[in-house]
Formats: sequence, structure tokens, C-alpha cells
Amino acid sequence: MGSLKGQNVVVIGGSRGVGRSIVEAARGEGATVLAVARGAAALTELFNEMPGVKTLASDATKEAAPDAVFNVLEPDVLVICAGALAPSVPVQDQNWEMFSANWETDVKAAFLFCKAALTGPLKPGTRVVLISSGAALSGGPPFAGGYAGAKRMQMFLAGHCQKESDRLGLGLRFMALAPARIMPGTGVGDAGLDGFAAYLGIRPADMLAGMTDLQTPADVGRAVVALATGKPEGSSFTVSGSGLAAAA
Ligand SMILES: NC(=O)c1ccc[n+]([C@@H]2O[C@H](COP(=O)([O-])OP(=O)(O)OC[C@H]3O[C@@H](n4cnc5c(N)ncnc54)[C@H](OP(=O)(O)O)[C@@H]3O)[C@@H](O)[C@H]2O)c1
Repeated sequence: MGSLKGQNVVVIGGSRGVGRSIVEAARGEGATVLAVARGAAALTELFNEMPGVKTLASDATKEAAPDAVFNVLEPDVLVICAGALAPSVPVQDQNWEMFSANWETDVKAAFLFCKAALTGPLKPGTRVVLISSGAALSGGPPFAGGYAGAKRMQMFLAGHCQKESDRLGLGLRFMALAPARIMPGTGVGDAGLDGFAAYLGIRPADMLAGMTDLQTPADVGRAVVALATGKPEGSSFTVSGSGLAAAA
């Protein structure tokens, strides 16, 4: 308790699912927290259930989003968790819009906010955490379009931005964190479970029953706090039921 006291934490995609758990974890550690998402209803619900949390309705894929967000709260810790649902149909039945959904949201939001971090507004010492996925390392399932590649790009982006920060002497810290398994009860998790189960012709509950070493959204929240408050080596990490680890 209190490891983020006096610090500002901004969570892009903080109104629901994993991002909401990150908001809760940061708030529990004493941070001033700003949750950003597009939908006002979920932000209002969050505000009512977690008094003191600041909220902002903004589309993170718009060029103006980083400035709009940083004008409301300058982060000491910036978490980019916003993500689109991956498609769950065979690749030959997808169109480009479906295939590229996670590039247009997850990667674009990460790119815009990381670029903004490197080009001025964020102060030395700011930590930036990109929420990637275990699919980035496994390749993901064959029906999820560009999801795995997009989440892998977020890992590469964290590394590229760290090198630029180091080269320019900016003192920023960029990290990618990949939740290793599907998390039921979240948007991406439930859609992924349903898609996987339909592909295999089994029930989502049976699919889930066969999975081991599951992390929860609360585990991801704790892992973000650990990365933000510790001095971990490297730029890519995973969190599973076994805990936080460097990505292989
Ligand atoms: N859930 C899992 O099992 C799992 C596993 C591995 C990795 N991940 C990653 O974890 C992240 C969160 O997943 P989740 O399951 O928690 O998703 P979710 O429940 O669908 O929540 C997504 C959050 O992002 C916001 N968002 C989406 N597009 C946005 C945009 N353009 N601008 C601003 N906010 C936006 C949503 O609010 P609005 O729609 O109102 O904007 C919401 O707050 C994703 O990056 C996902 O790939 C999830």
C-alpha cells in the first residue's frame, strides 16, 4: 500500500476489463489515477464505484489524444491498455478491416502515445507500460487476424522507444507487459474464449476448464505496479498465474 503515493497514473483503456483492474491497483497504491476511454457510460460507472478516480472520454487512436490526455493529468506512469476485440473467423473469411483491427487500435494508440512521450511532454523518470499479450510470443490462434502480430509490435515498440530515449538522454522508461493467458470476464478475454471454443467445436466453459496457470486482471494490475515501482531489467515482460517474468 502506498508505493505510488504522490504519483500520477494514466490508464488508456481504463474503463473496463484489464485496464479497470490496473486503475484499481494504482489507486490502491495511493496514486492519483486518470482513466481514459471512449465510452462515457463505463467511465461514469467507474467514477461512481471508485470515488476520486478522474475520467476522460477520448479516442486514443486520434492524433490529438495524447495532448488532450496530458493536459488533464501529466503522468508519472502511463499505461496503454486500450485494445480492440480480435476477429474470430477463419483468415480466408476476414476482410482487411477485420484483419487489421488490432493494428488500427492497439498499435496506433501505442504509437501515438509513445511518440508523444518521446517528443516532449513527458518528464524524465516517466514510466510507460504497453499492455501486449501472450499471443505475441505464441503466434496466437489461426482465426484472430493480425492480433498476435499487433501485440508483438507493441513489444518491439517498447524496445525501440527505450533505445531512442536512451540515445536522446530523455530518462524515460518503456516496457511491454504481456498477460500470458485469456482472462474470462474481460472484453478481449470473453471474445477470445468464445472464438476459440467455436473453432474447436466445444463449449467455452470446457475450453476454460482445460487451461492452467491463468492470471487474473488483478494479477495484471499488480504486475503493472511492480514494473512501475521496481527496477526491472529489459523491456518485455509476461504475467501468468506463476507471476511476473521477463519475456523470453
Ligand atoms: N482480456 C484478455 O484475456 C487479454 C489477454 C492478453 C492481453 N490482453 C490485452 O489487454 C488489453 C485490454 O483487454 P480487455 O479484455 O480488458 O479489453 P476490454 O474489456 O474490451 O476493454 C477495453 C478498454 O479499452 C478501451 N478502448 C478501446 N478502444 C479504445 C480507443 N480507441 N480509445 C480509448 N479507449 C479505448 C475500452 O473503452 P471504450 O470501448 O469505451 O473506448 C475499454 O476501457 C488489450 O490490449 C488486450 O489485447 C487482454
